[in-house]
Amino acid sequence: MQAVQATQFGDPATLELVTDLPDPTPGPGEIAIDVSHSAVGLIDVFFRQGRYKDRPGMPQPPFVPGLEVAGTVRALGDGVVGLTVGEQVVALSAGTGTGGYASVYIAEAALTVSIEGRGIDPALAVSVIPNAAMAHVALTQVAHLAAGERVLVHGALGGLSAGFPGVAKQLGASRVVGTVRPGKLAAAEATKLPYDRIVDSTDLHSALGDEKFDVVIDPVGGALRTQSLDVMIPGSRLVAAGNASDDWDHQVDTNRLWFRSVTVSGYNAGAFLPTHPQVVPAALAAAVEAAAAGLANTDVEVLPFSQAVTAHQRMESRDLDGRIALTPEA
Ligand SMILES: NC(=O)c1ccc[n+]([C@@H]2O[C@H](COP(=O)([O-])OP(=O)(O)OC[C@H]3O[C@@H](n4cnc5c(N)ncnc54)[C@H](OP(=O)(O)O)[C@@H]3O)[C@@H](O)[C@H]2O)c1
Repeated sequence: MQAVQATQFGDPATLELVTDLPDPTPGPGEIAIDVSHSAVGLIDVFFRQGRYKDRPGMPQPPFVPGLEVAGTVRALGDGVVGLTVGEQVVALSAGTGTGGYASVYIAEAALTVSIEGRGIDPALAVSVIPNAAMAHVALTQVAHLAAGERVLVHGALGGLSAGFPGVAKQLGASRVVGTVRPGKLAAAEATKLPYDRIVDSTDLHSALGDEKFDVVIDPVGGALRTQSLDVMIPGSRLVAAGNASDDWDHQVDTNRLWFRSVTVSGYNAGAFLPTHPQVVPAALAAAVEAAAAGLANTDVEVLPFSQAVTAHQRMESRDLDGRIALTPEA
C-alpha cells in the first residue's frame, strides 16, 4: 500500500511517501478500509514534531500519521457485524492511533460509522464527522448541555471547534457564539458553520458586552481560558479540550471558580473514549446527522499524499481557513 511516513521527529520535510508497505489485514473486531481521504489535524503535527514522544504509547518513527479516514470497507475481521464490504464509511481512532495517511487503514469497527447513501462528500465527512462526534461526547458527557443553554466556542473555525455549533444546535442550544483571532474575522464572516455570531477573541469582555454563557468550549487555552471565566454565569461549565495556544504554563485559579461558582472540566477523547466506549455509537450517529443536514459545512482542500509536506507546513503556519484532507496517489 501507499503511505506517508514520518521518518523521524522534526519538521514537515520528515514526511515521505512510500509505496511498498504491505497491505495490513484486520484482526478480530477490526475492519480494513480502502482509504479515499485522510484528515489532517493539529495532533498529527504534534506527533510528527515529537512533542509527546516521551509519553507512554506514543508513536516512534518511522510511523504513519493520521487518526481519521474516509473510504470503503475492504475486509471485515472476525466478529464484525453491521458493516459490509464496499460500504462507504468514516473511521476515527481513540488514543494514540496512527496509520491514517495510508491507502489501507485498519479501524476498530466500534469506531467506524457508515455514510453510505447519505450524500456526504467523503472529504467533508472525514474532516467533520470525527470532530462532530467528539463534540457530541464533550457536550453531553462533560458539559452536560441542557436545551436552551448558550454555548461559546473558542478557535471557532478550527478542526475540533467546527464540530461543535451544529451538534450544539441539534442538542437544543439556544445560541452558539464563536471566537477567532483578528486575522480570521473575514473567514468567520464567510463561514457556513451555524454560529449565531463570531467575535474577536482578543478582548472577550468588550467583544461580547453583556452576553454570558452556560457552556464554554476551549481547545485554545492560555489567557483566553482565564478571560472566559468573565463571560460565564454561575453554574456554567468550561471544557478544556486542547491547547492550540501552546501555553503549557497557564494555570486556572481555583479560588476564582469558587467565587464565581463555575466549573472547569477537561475532555480528551484519547483518554475518555477507551473508558467510555458506550458513548461512541450515539456520538457517531449524531455527527453523521449533523453533516448530512449541512450543520458542519466547512471548506476542505484536498491534496495528494505526495503533498503531505505542504499540508503540514500550512497547518503549522496557520495558512488555512478550513481543513486539509489527503488522498492517495492515483
Ligand atoms: N479534546 C480532544 O479530544 C481533542 C480532539 C482533537 C483536537 N484536540 C486539541 O484541540 C486543539 C486544536 O486542534 P485542532 O485539530 O482543532 O487544530 P486546528 O484545526 O489547527 O485549530 C486550532 C484552532 O485554534 C486557534 N488558535 C491557535 N492558536 C491560537 C492562539 N494562540 N490563540 C487563539 N486561537 C488560537 C486556531 O486559530 P487560527 O486559525 O487563527 O490559527 C484554530 O482555530 C489542539 O490542542 C488539539 O490537540 C483535542
